[in-house]
Amino acid sequence: MKDIVPLAIGAAAGGLLLREHSMRTKAERLSAATLETLLNAIDANDAITGAHVRRVATYALKLGEGAGLDERTLRSVERVAIFHDIGKLHGALTDIFHEQTKLTPEERRAVMTHPQRGAEVLAPLEGFFPDLPKGVAAHHERWDGKGYPRGLKGKRIPLVARVVSIADAFDAITHRRRYSHARSFSEAIRAIEDGRGTQFDPDLVDVFLSPPVRARIEEAMREANRPHKNHRNRRRGEVQRAPDVTFRWRPRSDESRAQGHQP
Ligand SMILES: [Fe+2]
Repeated sequence: MKDIVPLAIGAAAGGLLLREHSMRTKAERLSAATLETLLNAIDANDAITGAHVRRVATYALKLGEGAGLDERTLRSVERVAIFHDIGKLHGALTDIFHEQTKLTPEERRAVMTHPQRGAEVLAPLEGFFPDLPKGVAAHHERWDGKGYPRGLKGKRIPLVARVVSIADAFDAITHRRRYSHARSFSEAIRAIEDGRGTQFDPDLVDVFLSPPVRARIEEAMREANRPHKNHRNRRRGEVQRAPDVTFRWRPRSDESRAQGHQP
């Protein structure tokens, strides 16, 4: 009888642990599903932005890894990179972003509201991902305090936003946009170097320019710009590859096959 009590307690504790594990797994899947749904909404509204944010996430992760950021911060960097431009989906801005001509001062002012609009869209997720709205709001801040919307300076700019800002600038230079042609990898490197300590965090620029990180980013850029049949840029009829994200609410198809499920 004496032996039964500890056994029963052990079984109950085991059951509780299992239940807790299953609830945590469900919560993780729900959070990934929420993020993926938001990303689907970006893709559905604007495939060009969908591809841009994925490339930015890829470069930001390479930079973050090079800087030795821990896993938790890296996931945060990825989320901020993926949703940094979600504020552009605002009705008042969509037309401006798709105009082929140069922006008027008034349009430029409107465009400058997109970080704050993005943070407002993401505000309900703040309790789950505290860095997300703040990081998105700060992705156009500059190290020297001349950025927007708040003119934050130096380390007052959240780290995740400082990482994403370099990756965003790199992609803006190396990928063709409606108003500018793509420039070469070495031109982008020079521009990032020029922004050291003015536009960008100098320590992060040093990491970005270090040979191993630079090589990984160049490889990712070539891969991202390689024509690929799986991702069609609907707006321009281009065919381009869009890097994948790490958060997923369902197993990848190869994992599903391994588990004997239908993808
Ligand atoms: Fe932006």
